[in-house]
Amino acid sequence: MSQRRPFIGGNWKMNTDHASAVELAEQVIAGLQDHADSGDVVLCPPYPYLDLVGRTILSSPVALGAQDVSPEASGAFTGEVSASMLLDVGARWTLVGHSERRHGLGESDALVGRKLARALQSGLKVVLCCGETQEERASGKTDEVNRRQLEIALEGLEPAALDAMVIAYEPVWAIGTGLTPSLEDAEAAHLAIRSVLGSLYDDQFAASVRIVYGGSMKPTNVAQFISSPEIDGGLIGGASLKAEDFLAICREILA
Ligand code: 13P
Repeated sequence: MSQRRPFIGGNWKMNTDHASAVELAEQVIAGLQDHADSGDVVLCPPYPYLDLVGRTILSSPVALGAQDVSPEASGAFTGEVSASMLLDVGARWTLVGHSERRHGLGESDALVGRKLARALQSGLKVVLCCGETQEERASGKTDEVNRRQLEIALEGLEPAALDAMVIAYEPVWAIGTGLTPSLEDAEAAHLAIRSVLGSLYDDQFAASVRIVYGGSMKPTNVAQFISSPEIDGGLIGGASLKAEDFLAICREILA
């Protein structure tokens, strides 16, 4: 396990409803009472339930996060949700650049960069996601893809603005598939990402940034991932929808 403060995000994606969102949030906070301040735990429900889940976890150490944010401040952008609206309903974090948005919805690296800048400027903390597809990995482009995604997203941002950023390395082919990279491959990707940060900024800054792993992280494989000093926690999809599984992952990481 690393020396950096652990980070765990539960990305509920387009799941839950009014009742199950509250129930899941209640179970998570009840199960984390003994781990109050050993790391950051963030729940990212769908937009319609942000306020509700925010109220449910209000006096707990668990924080509220959104799954996406608009690159615009306000105005005529139908369907978009601004950073200030997210802050207004109690969100402190947002994901940016999740692969389901990059690949499923065609978000460009540049758009991800605009979202990152807007969110940070507005005072939201950000989990910036990056990762390669199966095809890119097979053709040896993993590090190149992560480098490109990060360089474009971080363009023009000073290290001081990036205190509030966590990077999630999420290989696209591992998301929701039950497949995972070997510990060596995951560690190599994390090291390569850290070296991109070192080349864009400096080694001291690079060493301070939390980089978490995402993609089919489960209670059964979490210990292996976090045995690496390079892996600072996890961004959890499917397993965050079952309180028991999410709590097992949290306990392992926060232990
Ligand atoms: P799974 O844990 O379902 O693979 O999803 C990972 C993810 O996309 C988290 O953002």
